[in-house]
Amino acid sequence: MTATPSALRREGTTPSGHAYVIRPSRDDDAPGLAALIDAVAREGELIAAVPGEPGTLEQSSRLVSIVLEGGLTLTLEVDGVPAGHVLVQRRAGSHYAHVGEVAILVSNPQRGGGLGRSLMEMAIAWGHAVGLAKLSLRVFPDNQRAIALYRSLGFRDEGLVRGEVRMPSGDKDMLLMGLSLSDRA
Ligand SMILES: CC(C)(COP(=O)(O)OP(=O)(O)OC[C@H]1O[C@@H](n2cnc3c(N)ncnc32)[C@H](O)[C@@H]1OP(=O)(O)O)[C@@H](O)C(=O)NCCC(=O)NCCS
Repeated sequence: MTATPSALRREGTTPSGHAYVIRPSRDDDAPGLAALIDAVAREGELIAAVPGEPGTLEQSSRLVSIVLEGGLTLTLEVDGVPAGHVLVQRRAGSHYAHVGEVAILVSNPQRGGGLGRSLMEMAIAWGHAVGLAKLSLRVFPDNQRAIALYRSLGFRDEGLVRGEVRMPSGDKDMLLMGLSLSDRA
């Protein structure tokens, strides 16, 4: 079996003393990641998901298709339990293949300890390694914590998409943000 490249693996101890590892997602992460997305969706309108979706099966096929399409999916485990996730999705078509779309979440108890930054740094390093020209993402404009993280990593605001996501509170705008990787080669 081939060893996981070190660029796709980080391990250590959280500020509260728990062992963590960030590593490529496996198919058997799907139930834990589906539960994590559901828990974050139940916190309020932080991500473009509503409680109850996606289910384990949908999450499992999503993980597989992201990798098959040339993307990245990394799982953060704390004490052996999925506690975070970052993915970079590649768009289909050669005219779009230079851009990767990032999505990230960290479980509520593990936030504020630098794990979100680690996940994003690994996604950015991977984007460089595979030759992407740009990473892009969409974030709710009131998600100050996520926006602060993205800006601190060099992402810039690129505009507002109006009424993009239908959430329980109504149709919400999304802020587009982008990080050029070709500027920093
Ligand atoms: C956004 C998220 C992934 C960040 O992960 P995290 O582990 O909490 O982030 P970190 O601890 O690495 O903090 C990174 C940066 O976030 C910002 N940040 C952290 N806590 C913050 C807070 N309470 N208020 C404002 N900014 C904060 C800071 O810029 C911080 O930088 P620092 O390292 O200089 O302190 C995480 O909070 C999360 O999953 N939130 C819910 C889901 C979500 O919003 N996902 C993104 C959708 S687009």
